[in-house]
Amino acid sequence: MSTSSKSVKNVVLAVTGASGACYAQRFLERAAALDGVRIHLLMTDTAREVWHHELDARPVPDRFMLLDNDNYFNPFCSGSAAADVMVVLPCSMGTLARIAAGTADDALARIADVQLKERRPLILVPRETPLSLIHLRNMTALTEAGAIIAPAAPGFYNRPADLPTLVDGFVARILQLAGLTPLEPGYRWDTILTQS
Ligand SMILES: Cc1cc2nc3c(=O)[nH]c(=O)nc-3n(C[C@H](O)[C@H](O)[C@H](O)COP(=O)(O)O)c2cc1C
Repeated sequence: MSTSSKSVKNVVLAVTGASGACYAQRFLERAAALDGVRIHLLMTDTAREVWHHELDARPVPDRFMLLDNDNYFNPFCSGSAAADVMVVLPCSMGTLARIAAGTADDALARIADVQLKERRPLILVPRETPLSLIHLRNMTALTEAGAIIAPAAPGFYNRPADLPTLVDGFVARILQLAGLTPLEPGYRWDTILTQS
């Protein structure tokens, strides 16, 4: 797998078994339409189960470059070829804990570990409520190590008319955080203010 072309941004999207497969699905749709962005998709076993449960008949995508979670023989498992950005969307508390502990015990945890040690962007989108002290401490440790914790907490100030708009607005914010695309005017507070 060659990742040498510098005009292309290599994005690792890791999907775990937290609730919120719709966010990952929308992220893939939107990122696939961006020029100069190459998506490397990694799904945990539980992520595939939750995807089927939450999205019914919609198939798990196979048109992206797939990373095997049991195989460290991919470029992003080494700091010498680290990804431009890694997004874990949604991020289970189990995976968040493993990253915080630096276990590097599967490809997902190793790539996240590489992002942190190389000071590369790592965006984690946890979904859980309420949060235990263990969750909060893990999130603090990850923030101290340089990760961005962006909880799956969509905003309502753009008055989303339906669920797809709510999901899209949140995913647009993650794409902005990842440096992949600017936030569209409809989701920006300054634009919303001038329209109201
Ligand atoms: C339908 C379903 C929904 C789940 N939702 C969450 C969740 O929102 N947050 C979470 O931390 N774990 C959730 N879990 C539990 C995780 O899937 C479980 O901890 C799993 O071990 C995570 O593994 P992974 O991080 O390797 O995907 C859910 C499980 C199922 C089956």
